[in-house]
Amino acid sequence: MSAQQVKGPDQEDTRSDSGLDLALWGELFRYAMRYKRQLVGLAFFALTTGFCDVCFPLVSRALIDEMIQLTESGGGFPEGSDWLMPYLWAYAALVLGLSGSVFFFIRYAGFLKAYMAADIREAGFGKLQLLEFAYFDKRPIGWLMARMTSDCERLARILAWGALDVLWASTFLVGIACVMLYLSWKLAVLVLLVAPLLAIASRFFQKRMLTASRSIRKINSTITADFNESIQGVLTTKSFVREQDNLASFEKKTDAMFESSVRNAVLAAAYLPVILSIGSLSTAAALILGGYQVAGGVISLGTLVAFLSYTRMLFEPLQQLAHIFSEMQMAQASGERIIEMIATEPAICDSELVKKKIADQAHDPVPGRAIDGDPDQLGRIVFQDVEFSYLPGETVLEGINVTVPEGETVALVGSTGGGKSTLVSLLCRFYEPTGGVISIDGCDLRERSLDWLQSHLGIVLQDPHLFSGSVLENIRYGQLHATDDEVYRAARTVGAEVTILRLPGGYGFNVGAGGSLLSAGERQLVSFARAILAEPRILIMDEATSSIDMETELQIQKGLERVLEGRTSFVIAHRLSTIEGADRILVIEGGRIVEEGSHLDLMAARGRYHELHARQGIDEVGVHIEDWS
Ligand SMILES: Nc1ncnc2c1ncn2[C@@H]1O[C@H](COP(=O)(O)OP(=O)(O)O)[C@@H](O)[C@H]1O
Ligand SMILES: [Mg+2]
Repeated sequence: MSAQQVKGPDQEDTRSDSGLDLALWGELFRYAMRYKRQLVGLAFFALTTGFCDVCFPLVSRALIDEMIQLTESGGGFPEGSDWLMPYLWAYAALVLGLSGSVFFFIRYAGFLKAYMAADIREAGFGKLQLLEFAYFDKRPIGWLMARMTSDCERLARILAWGALDVLWASTFLVGIACVMLYLSWKLAVLVLLVAPLLAIASRFFQKRMLTASRSIRKINSTITADFNESIQGVLTTKSFVREQDNLASFEKKTDAMFESSVRNAVLAAAYLPVILSIGSLSTAAALILGGYQVAGGVISLGTLVAFLSYTRMLFEPLQQLAHIFSEMQMAQASGERIIEMIATEPAICDSELVKKKIADQAHDPVPGRAIDGDPDQLGRIVFQDVEFSYLPGETVLEGINVTVPEGETVALVGSTGGGKSTLVSLLCRFYEPTGGVISIDGCDLRERSLDWLQSHLGIVLQDPHLFSGSVLENIRYGQLHATDDEVYRAARTVGAEVTILRLPGGYGFNVGAGGSLLSAGERQLVSFARAILAEPRILIMDEATSSIDMETELQIQKGLERVLEGRTSFVIAHRLSTIEGADRILVIEGGRIVEEGSHLDLMAARGRYHELHARQGIDEVGVHIEDWS
């Protein structure tokens, strides 16, 4: 992992003091705009829900007023229940309307959320496929995973439910306000005066409660990680007598967790009483002024009862709005990260010139040419004054000059960290040289199609990645159209078959996520077969046999001799004995080629290669001595 770590996913999350970034939410809302039908449905049912909610007190009002009228008229209540039926029907219709709209709006919001999460994730995932290695160097896998999973989910949820809440709550609020103003504007003004107070108080509590619960979650996850580490590292802890230190740091964290939990509990406990008290101010005001108005005959008793209901209902939409705005504010960091990731342009991609060449070749193909219209051959490879650094100012390779004729086997040797893997990464265009030129048959790599180049490279790494699935499927990944027989042949060629058949189920054995159910050596064998199956023109092996026992390695070598015939290959060797037959050996130390030649040349020169060779011989003797002791 590079030293330049990006901030972890949680570090920015509690940033809640900034205002709502409308531009950002607008950008994110574009994902919702793709689903116009769902949005319209959502809006429609949010409106009908709000409408039904507002109507309930009006039915009660009408009923009360009719009952009072009947009492006052002296005639008493009519026989039977016929006079009650209209109210019953109105009530039933409202309940039905409300249930129906709630059902549909939840459905629409759920759909919308699922679609948007998928879309945002797809956009991010698509970008990740295109981005170059350097992007991943700077961002830990865990960080990217958090972006692709929790951030996407969270944003989609807030967008879908936020749209719903905002629509419903505003309909509800505007509806209540209009009805109240219509019934009695004086009473309405008095009651509505409390609304801003309620809104401010809700906002205050919601924001703090969200912050507290987030910090509890965060501490909780570090505690879990701590547990994990101390259990896994218990031997080390004990051997260094660090139990007390560990306990102290653990206690500090649980204390912090306790504090946050208490804060959250106090806030949650205070929230409702505070809101109810503020709300009761408006109820009291409505009761007093309304009481006078009823007594004076200005409004009916039914109207007063309706008002009292509305004063209590007012709180619900305000609370929803406060909640959703706080959530949006807290999720802004997630939104920014996702938008930024999606907007990142890959640094290594086909240039405009290459794109044009590809378009021309697609439009008017020259037979026998590559997709970019240039000759379809990968012959002579030339590194010319190549220079490279991962981080500005820290040169990893410099002055690399080497010419590799077609079909040669080139071995790269030298001490760890010398730059061998980096050199082959440059050939694969996983990174771009910071100086100099790499060319194939006289053409700068940057002027060829990236897809074309990479599809002709076979790469076997020291720690290869396999996908969960059978061994057979994993090998076939190298060439999706290969028949089973071709897969078996590839495995046989690299000497992997014996090992594969020893697995339970043989080729059908499921290797687990990342190939975790196989040993490192077995994974190397499978990835070898996978690379060979693709029939690459250039084969690159980066310490590809380091975890394979010597006997199997010899077998692989025998198979490879046939495979490598006529193919250019780069072999980074772990054991020097395996590359003695290479056409050319490059000794790389400190980012430079310090020696170049065949095994015999280099041995005769008695330089660095000779020294490495001698040391490996001694190491092997060393092993023997240890074995005896
Ligand atoms: N992704 C990376 N980011 C930053 N530095 C790196 C990265 N990969 C390798 N390096 C550094 O580049 C140097 C050469 O590494 P590498 O090419 O892997 O050496 P070798 O394969 O010869 O062991 C080392 O100093 C290593 O620390
Ligand atoms: Mg390496």
